[in-house]
Amino acid sequence: MRTRVLPDYETMSAAAADVVASKLRKKPHAVFMVPTGTTPLGMYRELVARHEGDGLSFARATFFNLDEYLGLPPDHPASYHVYMRKNFYGRVDIEPERVHVPDGFAPDPEAECGRYEQEIRAAGGVDLCVLGIGRNGHIGFNEPGASFDSRTRVVRLAESTRRVNATDFEGDRAPERAISVGMRTISDSGEVLLLASGANKARAVAAAVGGEVSEEVPASALRRHPNVSFLLDRDAASALEGSAARRS
Ligand code: PGA
Repeated sequence: MRTRVLPDYETMSAAAADVVASKLRKKPHAVFMVPTGTTPLGMYRELVARHEGDGLSFARATFFNLDEYLGLPPDHPASYHVYMRKNFYGRVDIEPERVHVPDGFAPDPEAECGRYEQEIRAAGGVDLCVLGIGRNGHIGFNEPGASFDSRTRVVRLAESTRRVNATDFEGDRAPERAISVGMRTISDSGEVLLLASGANKARAVAAAVGGEVSEEVPASALRRHPNVSFLLDRDAASALEGSAARRS
């Protein structure tokens, strides 16, 4: 496991875009799994800029999203369908048929989970999985307690997650449930890149990097992965000790 600490959010985002761009250069038809949330916005901005300025092309690549809220139609402003179109998929040369986001509005959510997992398999598996991390250590919407063996499934969101994500919704809570790829689905990726920015992630990052590997800290599962990097800004790395806090 590698830990890189960058001075601030902008340099962390540029470094994340470097990893994606370099994967694309080596393998233009690579399969990516990608996150939503506040953290990856800078990386998406950077990738869009490189597409517009340097002709970085996503035309042959395939994208899977990590999760989607259950019960939201794909045109709901707080859906991850809309987030992705607005911030990334709609702004680069991605082929729409190679974009996959779980359908949170599917009439049979369980069947949708099976279908999604099957699509990942049919694409040949994930080459690079980019993740954020929740303040409680979640990855995707795999909340504390999620089995390391889990696959794509319907999950119940932690109350703390619902409050943190409430700003996108009317009322003071995000939806109760979501579809999330599983811990095993993530671990099966060839390479994993976790991004974290800000002091409110410092405890979760320290627990994932330096604490016990435990289902109570989902991101700690990544320590068993043979090719994982944590890309942190200084604030997110502020609770790390010793060599794990090495500046890059
Ligand atoms: P954030 O979300 O990037 O909005 O902080 C990360 C996450 O919850 O995984």
